[in-house]
Order: sequence, then C-alpha cells, then structure tokens
Amino acid sequence: MCGIIGYTGADDIVRALAGGLEKLEYRGYDSAGIAFAEHGRLRVIKSVGRIALLEEKLADVRTDARCGIGHTRWATHGRPTEINCHPHLSFGKKFAVVHNGIIENCRKLQTLCENRGITPVSDTDSELIAHLLELNYEGDALSAVRRTAAMLEGSFAVAALCSDAPDEIYAFRRSSPLIIGVGKGMCCLASDGCAARAERTYLLGDGQYARLSSRGAEFFSHGKPAAPKRIQTADAGSCERGGYAHFMLKEIHEQPEAAARTIEAVGNRRLRGEVLYLGCGSSYNAALAAIPLTERGTGAEAHAVTAGEFLFSERVNGRGKTAVLLSQSGETADTVAAAEEAKRRGYATVSITNVPRSSLTRACRRNILTHAGPEISVATTKGFTSQAAALAALLTGAEEEDAVRRLPFAIERALGCDGDAKAVSELFASCRTAFFVGRREDCGAAYEGALKLREITYVPAMGLSAGELKHGTISLVEEGTPVVLIHTDPALKDKTLLTAATVRARGGTVIAVTADDEVAAACDFTLRIPFVPPLLSPAVSVVPLQLLAYHAAVRMGRDVDKPRNLAKSVTVE
Ligand code: F6R
Repeated sequence: MCGIIGYTGADDIVRALAGGLEKLEYRGYDSAGIAFAEHGRLRVIKSVGRIALLEEKLADVRTDARCGIGHTRWATHGRPTEINCHPHLSFGKKFAVVHNGIIENCRKLQTLCENRGITPVSDTDSELIAHLLELNYEGDALSAVRRTAAMLEGSFAVAALCSDAPDEIYAFRRSSPLIIGVGKGMCCLASDGCAARAERTYLLGDGQYARLSSRGAEFFSHGKPAAPKRIQTADAGSCERGGYAHFMLKEIHEQPEAAARTIEAVGNRRLRGEVLYLGCGSSYNAALAAIPLTERGTGAEAHAVTAGEFLFSERVNGRGKTAVLLSQSGETADTVAAAEEAKRRGYATVSITNVPRSSLTRACRRNILTHAGPEISVATTKGFTSQAAALAALLTGAEEEDAVRRLPFAIERALGCDGDAKAVSELFASCRTAFFVGRREDCGAAYEGALKLREITYVPAMGLSAGELKHGTISLVEEGTPVVLIHTDPALKDKTLLTAATVRARGGTVIAVTADDEVAAACDFTLRIPFVPPLLSPAVSVVPLQLLAYHAAVRMGRDVDKPRNLAKSVTVE
C-alpha cells in the first residue's frame, strides 16, 4: 500500500529520500516520486514502475536542498501514470503533498476546487489536498494544515512541503499510521518503523498534526501543542534479509520462533462461547482452518466470514457472541471496519494481530498479539502460522497443552521438506492451473496454499474442499494437472485415498502433504510433515505449501517479495 517518507536535516536530500523509499518497497507500489524545495520553488521528480527507475532519474540530480518528501503509490484513484504519481503540487505550486489513505468526500472537494477555478490535473483524491492547503493558506502553513485536515473525510496520512518554508515538513493524519523520528539535527517521517530510523520515534496521534525541521518536531492538536505517543520501531536487523535470497524465505524460516513466542504470549487465555471469525486473505484462511478446532474447544458453532462481506451482511444481533478479528498488519481497512460494525451489532470484539497499537487493536475491546516480528514479504507466511498457533493455544484444553507447546518443533521439522518442495515446484512452474484440496482443517490450509501460489507465481490456483472437487471442478483436471492433497487426520484416510485415485484416473499429478505412508504411496509425490493432532495441524501443513509457492516463483523469475498489483497492507475498503 502507499508509503510516505520525509526527511529534514544535514544529509543530501535526494539520497536520503531514495534510501527511505527503498525501505518502503516491500509494501507494494506501482510508481514513486520525491519533492524538495530549491531556491524558493518546489521541485518534483516522479517515475512509474520500480524505485530503481526513479533512482536512474535521480542519479544526476545535484541540489543543496536538505528537506523533502517521498512516496510509493499503489494505484486506487486512477491508473499508475506519472501524472497520478505523488508528490502532487497545488495550483500555485506553493504546496507539495504525499498522501496515504482514501479521501471519502473527494467528489465534494473536487467541486469545491472547481468552483474556485482550479482544475485538477490527475485522477487522484490526493491532489485535492494540495489545492486545499493552498486555498487555506494565509501565510501560516500550520493553520492551513489544520483547516485542510478538518475538511477531509476518510483515512489519511499526509506529508506536505510549503515553498515559503523550505526546511520544514508538515504532517497530519487520521486513521492511517504516520511515524515521526527525531534525532540530532534531523527529523524524519514514514508510514512505518522500518523506514523511520532515529534516536526517538513517535506515532503521530489520530487527528494530530506536526511541523518537522532540523531543530526538532512540534506536535499539535486543535491549534494547541500536543504530546505524541513514543514508540519503539523494529530494529535494523529485522528489516534486513539476513543472508536469505528473499524476505519470504527468511520469514518462512522464522516460523518456529514466531509460533513459540506467540504460544507463550497467549498463556492461559482461552476463547469461549459462540465465535464469528472475520479477516481477509490469509487471515481469513487461518480462521477457516481453525473452525473445527473452535467448535470442539468452545462446544458451539463457529463461522468465518471475510471482513469485506460481513460489512454488507444482514445486521444480525451479535449480543452474547464474540467476533474475533484476525489481521497480521492490524491496518486492513475491511477488517478494521468489520470490528466497528461488529461492535455496533453487539458482539464482544477480540483482535488477533501482529501489530500492537494498530488501528485494529484500537477498534477492538480485547487484543491478543501474535509475536511474529515484522513481516516484509508481501505474501504472508509467519503471519498465517502465528495466527494458527495463537488459535491453537486459545482453543485447546489442558489435555492438548503439550501438543500445542510442541507445535514450533513440528513446524521446524516441516521445514525439512524444502528440498522436495523445490524439486516438485517444477510441476507448478509449467502448469496451466493447479489445485489444492483437503478436508476439514486441511481445507483452510488448502485455501492458503492456493493463495500463496497464485499471488507470487500468477498461476491460476484454486483451493477447495476435497469433497467438492467432483462437483464440477474436476472437469479442469487434465494430463499433468498438479493437485496438492493435504491429509492430516487418520480418520479421513479412506476419503483421501479415494480423492487421490479419482484425480490420478483423470491424468492429474497428485502431490500429498502428509505424515501417512499409505497416503504417500497412493500419490505421485509427497511432501512429508510430522504427525500432529489433526486439529492443530494447519500451522504445520501450510509450511510445504509456502515452500512450494516460493520455489515455483523463483523458478519462474517472479518478483517474490513484491508480486505485481499487491500491497502489504490493504488500507482501502
Ligand atoms: C496473502 C496476504 C493477504 C493478507 C490480507 C490481510 O499472502 O498477505 O491476503 O493476508 O491482505 O492482511 P492482514 O492480515 O494484514 O489483515
């Protein structure tokens, strides 16, 4: 999702901004740009595509400017073109603006601008913020910021430059996060902690605004000085690849520790009563995989609904029930909105998220943290397993506590199938379509395996219940079609063997993910996992699927950590 940076201090501004943008790359973007004030005028340099293309443009830029802002854009309003790319200039070129979020009343604001004779040049909602700043400007940029912020509806984190104050950056936000770093003779800002490195870091409060200069940062709220919240950002090491070829591979290997930390942190907390899970993408899959465990653990029916759909579902009274909201980032707009909606319907709300003090933790009454550490790869891996581990810990009784504690070791052992996954990945790098199937808890894992494969290889892959295969989808299975069959529950073995035989009879190639020798013998290839109690298995059975997708993507020359069109956290509904 869009990322913002800003820097003011003694460093060469072009290099400082380019370095900051590189740190934001993992969030996903399709264009990037920077702005700085030079000799009383704002200069903007932008490029569509990778940061490397922008850096080519910046290579010959020499300037004595020491203050500027930058942006990576993930297109929502308008295509990824240079005109739509940030920073945006105001009509009189007095302000330059970078923005992350969505301005919900942009149509109204556009009409307001047009009535004042201003014709926006881009398709973006963000450009309007620059025009409003200049319209509200009467010689004091801070007052213009306050008035402009009051006119905006929706979510936004904004950094702005004013040509009359070339060494200052103005920042304001609502809902979207914005981190401000302060060090000796410098200030910086960024959408996340990996890009904001300084001696002290602060989260700009919701509705607050700030003025940054090399002398320090001043924070305000409603025209008065305000105190921001001091935070710790991720340490430098966790934002680097640590010798792995890709962040995704590093994060796959971090899963045993992530699960162990998470299980430890859950301690003796337990989920009780009727549960409705809400989440998006992999977080939804983690919930789906936990339904059978939840029903056994709580003795009540459990359901999982994608957060986006929940918003438009029948407004059934949730009193007496718990809505559990899952999100690695804690910033997914649909999930945060679903938390608010669940509260309105009377549900007790519990978040399971990896980011403390995120929008989701603020929206929920109770919060359970996963301790996966920062996840940089766009495709989540340790985010999913730490959620699965948290759910395992939250839903098992005393009799299975040992098995839960052993989950990190089982995940570690599952990593041992890396070599086999790499070999088998060849089938996926050359196929037209692929399927991932399983029953019960294996069905959620199958959904996740298919999502991993399609998001980083772009191979059309489908996850479904093994029982559903015969109700239509099997018509797509032809000679050599890879079908990944996940099998963890001995009680379901006969069904699994039947599925394997049915697919092979149509020429499909079956890849088993299992600890069971008989199932392995009935399939073409096997990715071995250790045996764990079936209801706890999703955190383990997903590991070979992640490795399979990873190796297929590498074979195909895909941009593994930054797949096309995707953003790390989807902060628009
Ligand atoms: C898939 C993936 C996405 C996210 C989804 C929700 O690899 O990363 O499907 O799972 O966007 O994100 P969070 O968990 O941050 O709410």
